[in-house]
Amino acid sequence: MSSTSDQGAKLAYNANIRSTLQTLAQHSISTPLAQRFQDDPNRAANYSADLGPLFVDYSKHHIDSDILATLCKLASDRGIPEQFTALRAGAHLNNTENRATNYPSLRRWAVTGQSDDEAIDSMYAGMADLVAAVHGGKLTGASGKAFTDVVNIGIGGSDFGPRLVCDALSNQTAPLLKTHFAANIDPSVITEILAAVPAETTLFIVASKSFGTQETRSNANSARAWLRSELELNNVDSHFVAVTSKPESAKAFGIRDDLILKVPEWVGGRFSVWSAFGVAVALSSGMDSFRALLAGGHDVDQHVEQAPLEQNVPVILGLLDVWYRNAWGISSQAVLPYEHHLKLLPIYLQQLFMESAGKSVSCDGEVLEYTTGGVIWGTEGTNGQHSFHQLLHQGSDTIPCDFIASLQSHNPIGEQHQTLVANCFSQSLVLMQGQSAAEIEDALVSGGMATDEAKPLAQHKAMLGNRPSTTILMDQLDAGALGALLALYEYRLFTASFVWGINPFDQWGVELGKQISQTLMGALSGDDTSSLDSSTAQLIARYKKAQAT
Ligand code: F6P
Repeated sequence: MSSTSDQGAKLAYNANIRSTLQTLAQHSISTPLAQRFQDDPNRAANYSADLGPLFVDYSKHHIDSDILATLCKLASDRGIPEQFTALRAGAHLNNTENRATNYPSLRRWAVTGQSDDEAIDSMYAGMADLVAAVHGGKLTGASGKAFTDVVNIGIGGSDFGPRLVCDALSNQTAPLLKTHFAANIDPSVITEILAAVPAETTLFIVASKSFGTQETRSNANSARAWLRSELELNNVDSHFVAVTSKPESAKAFGIRDDLILKVPEWVGGRFSVWSAFGVAVALSSGMDSFRALLAGGHDVDQHVEQAPLEQNVPVILGLLDVWYRNAWGISSQAVLPYEHHLKLLPIYLQQLFMESAGKSVSCDGEVLEYTTGGVIWGTEGTNGQHSFHQLLHQGSDTIPCDFIASLQSHNPIGEQHQTLVANCFSQSLVLMQGQSAAEIEDALVSGGMATDEAKPLAQHKAMLGNRPSTTILMDQLDAGALGALLALYEYRLFTASFVWGINPFDQWGVELGKQISQTLMGALSGDDTSSLDSSTAQLIARYKKAQAT
């Protein structure tokens, strides 16, 4: 805990930094992005870099060497390099839960085959054994048949990561096992999955760090009851694997001891795809693919450890997030993968960023006077172009965008992939460059339109431009590139969070809703509602009436 005088100094310091950034923003707004490109023929090369299998172009941002230097000074003043060193050393940066946050140590295992933590080694050894047993037919369904399908039952971080990676890698080779994902407690989800899988040859992974999550326990219970009834057997134990930090709870739930993969307590849900929570990935694509994913993340670990701040790509992207949030007042950013098999990336990043940086107090528990994490959203290109890109181009808010594309398609047909890439590149160009009303009016008049008609129409057609974006390219979407991409976003999040002085590793804000839902379960079943607000009581009455009819 820091002393009161430290805290006072920190607040004063924060105020100084913010006012420096705001002054810089006012200054930089007067230089349009298009102008910056005209002024500096080397701009693209100066503000882009290779990062392992990725190429990152951040030249279409409102930055120049002064701004970058100020942001890097901010990073060093806020101790970003030291915080990364502490993270790697296993310091308990998750101070509210008193837990380590050494995610690079997970990825190091993929490259060295070992870690300095026995719990990590035994987790991966157990995972590799399980995957080999399933693929080799040593672990089979109750009737002795090899598994063909795997259903990952988990939610939040126990779902988004494996779901994204399985989908992303499914375009390379035919999956070894067909994967399905059940997260939501809505009974339609598990019902539809169970209707689609073969009972005899389906393996269920019950993925829950706490093993207490309502959705996961309910879906797992439903799956087990269904399997027992389908197979007309009570013992369906070989069909259920658990991934958890609470092996005793998994055992009490009825999971066989030898089918429980134990993940160290410090591994947080939204960062857990690197751990045994990624077992669905290894089952569907193989253990080698899983290791390649981690090795891609390890490339980024190395870069972050070795590159100076002003060349440190994830740090720069994190600083740009701070720049736009605190100096420009921007509260939303879009992630736009022009790669069908990254379509789940925006949803994955929503949890990664919004559960991590949606905080209003510092690590010390002080209420912050400045804004922190904003909203992340997006969808795959080109679908978004026929929807919300109108707002990106002409809406009243500036929304920085991430464009992500692969240079080679796994499914080349004619010119379709080239057209996809052309659309991706043209969107960032138009966002940056825009088109003025005067230019449009001239073109309309040259085409024969009367000036009094052309003038107002040109206003409608004018493209504002000056809207920033990052473009991230990869040769082809594979496990290594995906691992690098996910690690890049993690470090970007950590950078911004450490500058803001918040703890990105906890998520206290989700707890009260969970507790109240337990209370409301009682009210929906008939408990007295008189202590509730009239709106909630009214909704409950409606539900009860519907059940009674
Ligand atoms: O409700 C939020 C949360 O705790 C997430 O952080 C987590 O990823 C998810 O629930 C699932 O938790 P568990 O893995 O313990 O079931």
